[in-house]
Amino acid sequence: MPRAMLIDTDTASDDAVALIMAARWPDVEIKAVTVVAGNVPVDQGVRNALYTLELCGSEAPVYRGSAEPLRRPLVTAEFFHGGDGLGDRGYPPPQRSPAEGDAVEAIVRTVRENPGLVLVTLGPLTNLARALEIAPDLASLVGRCIVMGGAACTVGNVTPAAEFNLWVDPDAARVVFESGVSIEMVGWELCRHEANLDDAEMAYVRGFDNPLARFAIDCNATALEANRRQSGDPGLGLPDPIAMGIALDPSICKRRSAHRVQLETESDLTRGMTVVDALEIHDYPHNKKVWGHLARPNAVVCWEIDVPAWKAMLFRSLRDG
Ligand code: RIB
Ligand code: CA
Repeated sequence: MPRAMLIDTDTASDDAVALIMAARWPDVEIKAVTVVAGNVPVDQGVRNALYTLELCGSEAPVYRGSAEPLRRPLVTAEFFHGGDGLGDRGYPPPQRSPAEGDAVEAIVRTVRENPGLVLVTLGPLTNLARALEIAPDLASLVGRCIVMGGAACTVGNVTPAAEFNLWVDPDAARVVFESGVSIEMVGWELCRHEANLDDAEMAYVRGFDNPLARFAIDCNATALEANRRQSGDPGLGLPDPIAMGIALDPSICKRRSAHRVQLETESDLTRGMTVVDALEIHDYPHNKKVWGHLARPNAVVCWEIDVPAWKAMLFRSLRDG
């Protein structure tokens, strides 16, 4: 019986590779792809998702979702992913149109029809927050919610304190992290350093000499240069494919622990920061009286991934494309 999956995405270049991994995974059925504004405006995200799924031969329905964060103006990331989010390679428009209906309603319907499904979020959490606000029962119906977002006890990538997805819509992130949904948090830090694809690995993927492999590398050309410039990392960081890897095979995360994770939503300096209670300070006897209500963990944080296993999984999904 294939595993039901719902993917919420702000489809740009690393999201596209994550979509390919899911579409090509043998025992996964993508029940819906819901698009949220983030990397690119929502209509561009819809176009990119449809194009990517067509490359994979997937008929999964794509729904248009939130065009703005819950309370803040949208800030996009074309500087990082290219004007179209896919490296400005001039890819043609998709053949298919988005499915009828709004992404938020699609999330509510799809989760209720597939209790226990795997929900993977690859962008700001606006759609999921809105779905949880109108249907709080979803929190107990979702089997696993793998969130690509946050920075666990480390630097951010869009501000010194915050990772892009949760910074774009910190209010939505707080709703989701306080909803009781079963979160596995995959911070951007997991895609850095040795988890980058280096030049040799990108050449190796190109060497597969098929449309999917070429697309996966080409659409990330802008992101490669931006990553090197922004973080000084050696190659291509792929945060969404790492989150997808953990969704497809939980053993890719080789060190994890449950903690209380709080979202800062007030100050411009630290909005979107994921404050992880890594030392269980809320649970200290002298703190219990004041902070005891925060002692309950609300997320499982992934601290380390099996990089070789993840890269092998990524290469497998691109090799026969
Ligand atoms: O911070 C990295 C995340 O922000 C990734 O999901 C990337 O696609 C952007 O959405
Ligand atoms: Ca994304």
